[in-house]
Amino acid sequence: MSRGRFVVLEGIEGAGKSTHAAFLAGWLEQRGIAVVAAREPGGTALGERLREILLDPELTGMAPLAELLLMFAARSASLKEVILPALDEGSWVICDRFVDSSYAYQSYGRGVSLEYVEALEKQVLDGLRPDLTILLDTPVRLGLSRKADPQGRDRFERESREFFERVRAGYLERAALGGDGYRIVDGSKSLEEVQTDLTDAIRRLAGL
Ligand code: TYD
Repeated sequence: MSRGRFVVLEGIEGAGKSTHAAFLAGWLEQRGIAVVAAREPGGTALGERLREILLDPELTGMAPLAELLLMFAARSASLKEVILPALDEGSWVICDRFVDSSYAYQSYGRGVSLEYVEALEKQVLDGLRPDLTILLDTPVRLGLSRKADPQGRDRFERESREFFERVRAGYLERAALGGDGYRIVDGSKSLEEVQTDLTDAIRRLAGL
């Protein structure tokens, strides 16, 4: 059996990743392709526990390196328990965030060196790369306006506009450097237009 394809959706808060990941999974399944959904941080028992810690607004002032290492701990569990087994059995994996979130948030956003993230990527991912990373690029003001009221915001959603501007710029830089492995989709378009762009992006990968 041939190995499945690994597709990642990235973007800032409110870019619509979760909605569009579910849409893409359904679109592929309708075409007879088995799909496993993954998300980061989370998707495993350990990952979901780490997610609670990582998003907890009471944990103010978490050290950026601690944050990064917890993200990679969750990622390591997700790889072993969800992503690699699914790809091995021939399923596609649609992952809501992956290693580019660590570059965008912990390096560009928080200032951890890119080399540090690269070193972890090398060790933890062991050469695995997404077949395609789709960046849902969304203006910060629009993304944040789609998020919960200030009371319900998680630890990241409480960050400043400047933080998210750095994160967005980081994503765009990664996509520009990443060439064929990336597609940028304008997340400010209507839902239908974004869906058309997404299916265009994966059609070729699916041989459709
Ligand atoms: P998520 O729930 O997907 O965010 P949202 O649905 O609001 O877009 O992800 C949780 C948060 O974790 C998000 O604010 C981004 C952050 N994050 C990082 O900072 N680094 C990482 O490596 C990952 C995977 C997520």
